[in-house]
Amino acid sequence: MCGIVAAAARREVSEILLEGLRRLEYRGYDSAGMALINDQNVLQIHKRNGKVKELEAAQAQEPFYGNTGIAHTRWATHGKPSTENAHPHASGGRVALVHNGIIENHAELRAELIAAGYEMSSATDTEVIAHLLHLSLQKGASLRAAMQNTIARLEGAYALAAIDIESPHTVVGARKGSPLVVGVGIGENFLASDQMALRQVTDSFIYLEEGDLVEISPASIQICTIDGEAIERPTTRIKEALETSDMGDFDHYMIKEIFEQPVALEATLAGAANVEQVEECFGHGASAMFDRVTNVQIVACGTSYHAGMVARYWLEELAGISCEVEVASEFRYRKRVQHEGTLLVAISQSGETADTLAALRNATEGEFIGSLVVANVDNSSLVRECDLVFLTRAGAEIGVASTKAFTTQLVAMLMLTLALGRRRGMTDERQSEIIEALENLPHYVRQTLELNGAIQKLSEAFIPKRHALFLGRGIQYPIAMEGALKLKEISYIHAEAYPAGELKHGPLALVDDDMPVVAVAPNDELLEKLKSNLEEVRSRGGELFVFADREAGFANEDRVQVLPMPHCPEVIKPIVYTVALQLLSYHVALQKGTDVDKPRNLAKSVTVE
Ligand code: G6P
Repeated sequence: MCGIVAAAARREVSEILLEGLRRLEYRGYDSAGMALINDQNVLQIHKRNGKVKELEAAQAQEPFYGNTGIAHTRWATHGKPSTENAHPHASGGRVALVHNGIIENHAELRAELIAAGYEMSSATDTEVIAHLLHLSLQKGASLRAAMQNTIARLEGAYALAAIDIESPHTVVGARKGSPLVVGVGIGENFLASDQMALRQVTDSFIYLEEGDLVEISPASIQICTIDGEAIERPTTRIKEALETSDMGDFDHYMIKEIFEQPVALEATLAGAANVEQVEECFGHGASAMFDRVTNVQIVACGTSYHAGMVARYWLEELAGISCEVEVASEFRYRKRVQHEGTLLVAISQSGETADTLAALRNATEGEFIGSLVVANVDNSSLVRECDLVFLTRAGAEIGVASTKAFTTQLVAMLMLTLALGRRRGMTDERQSEIIEALENLPHYVRQTLELNGAIQKLSEAFIPKRHALFLGRGIQYPIAMEGALKLKEISYIHAEAYPAGELKHGPLALVDDDMPVVAVAPNDELLEKLKSNLEEVRSRGGELFVFADREAGFANEDRVQVLPMPHCPEVIKPIVYTVALQLLSYHVALQKGTDVDKPRNLAKSVTVE
C-alpha cells in the first residue's frame, strides 16, 4: 500500500527511482512523486496525479537530476488523490519526505504546527511529519536526530524516508507498522518499502525491524533505535532470479499469472512426494508443534481469507480437526476465547497485510501454541515473525487481483491438512489419495486453461449486466465467494456469493432475467440439492451459468449455459474451479475495458489498517 524508493549514491539516481516506482506501482497508483537534491544542493520535486507514467512524463519534459533522492507511489488514505496530496511532502524548501501508513494523531499535530506558523498545502496526514522534521532541523538537530524527535511524536503506522539539503548525501528512514528494507549496494545504498523495487540495483538487503531508524549514505548504513542506540541487522543475499518479469506474450499480468498456475503449483508441490516430506515444507520444528495441535484458528484478508474458508472444510472433514476462520481486521479487535492446543495460521500472499500482522502481534501470551504463516514473499514481516512458515512458490504476483497466489495457498492448506490429519487417524490410503490428487493438480489446471476460449464466449453475456449472483454448496461456497470477489474487483460488476441453500432466504428476490447466476457445481452428495436450487432460479427467469463436472449430468438448455469442467478428484475441485472463475472475471473485465491489473481504488498489498 503505497510504495517508497530512496537512494544515496555517487551516480545520478532519477532513473533508478522511477524504475523502482514502476516495480512498486502494484502497491498503489493514485499519484506519484520524486524529490532529488541536485549538485547545487537545491531540492527539486515533481508530483503528479495519476500513475507513474505521468511522473515519467513530467521528468521527461522538465528533467532534473541528483545523487540523493526519494520517490513514492500513493494509495490515498487521508486526502483524495491529487497533485497536492501526492508525496513527497516538503517543508521550508529544505526537507522532503515520503510516507507509507497512517498517522493517527495528525489532526492534533496539524493544529500545533499551524499555531507555530506552518502553512498546510495538502489534506494528508503525512505533511505534518515533514513540518515536524523541519522544525527540529531549524533548531539545529541533524537529520537523524530530527527524525528521532519527529517519530517520538507520531502515533500510528509508518515507513518513512526523508532528505535534507543541509545533508545532501544522506537519506534517513524509519519503520513502525509498515515495511522498509535497505538495499545494500557498492558505493551506494537504497531504501524501499519492498525489495522488489531495488532488484535492478542490488541483491543484498537488510530487513529493518519495528522501531528501527536508519541513515544511509553512499558509503555507510547506520541503524539505531528511536533512542539512538546503534543496532546490527543481518544482510540477506537474495538468490532467485530477477522476479519482476515482463508480461511476455500476454496483454496483462493477471492473465499471465492465471496461465502460470500449473508451474506455480508444481513449484509449490516440489519435493512433497510423501507425507513426511510434506511436513518438511513447514520448516524446522513443525513436526513437534503439529503433535500438539488440537484446533486451528485461521486469520487472513481478501482472497487469502477465502483460502482459509476452503481450508476449514478440509481440516474438519479430512483431518478431523476443529477450525475457525476469521477476517483479520475483525479478529484483532475482538475479545476471544481460544481452545487449548490452538495453532494460529495466518494466510497472506504478501506477508505484509497490516491487519493480518496485527492479528498475529496482538495474540496474547499463551493464547496459541504457536503460529504458522502461509506466504508467498520470503523475508516479509509475517514470515519473519511466525514460528513456522510455508512459502508458496507462486513467483511474484503483480496483478492486484490475486490468482496464482490463491491456488498455491490452497495447496499449502491441503498439505497442512495432510500433516495434521495423519496425527488424527487419517488412513494411509486417504493420505496417498490426497497426495496423488495433488500431483495431478497441475494437469487438471492445464485442462481448465484450455477452456479459455469457451469461457471468453460465455463471458459476453455479463458485459451489459450490473449485478451477478454466485452460488456454491459445501467447499465450493468459498470458491463462489472468490469468484464473486474477482468479478467485482476487476470488472466493477456488483457480485455476491451465497451458499445455494440460502437462496430462498433472500437473494431469490433479486432474481429476474437481468440477473446472471453463476453456479459452481460439485459432483458429490450435494449435487442433487444444488440442482433443485438452480431450478428455483430458472423458474424465475434467471439466466444460469453452471460450472460443472462434465460427468455431473448438466446440459445446456434454455437460459442455462453449462461449462463442462475436467472430471477430477473431489478434493482438488475447489482449486480447479477457481481457475475457470478467474478466466471468467478476466474476460468480462477485458471486454468492459477496465484496468485489469490495477483496478480502481485497490492496492496489491494493504499495509495500512
Ligand atoms: C489486498 C489485495 C487482495 C489480497 C488482500 C490480502 O486487498 O488486493 O488481492 O487478497 O489484500 O493480501 P495478502 O497479501 O495478505 O494475501
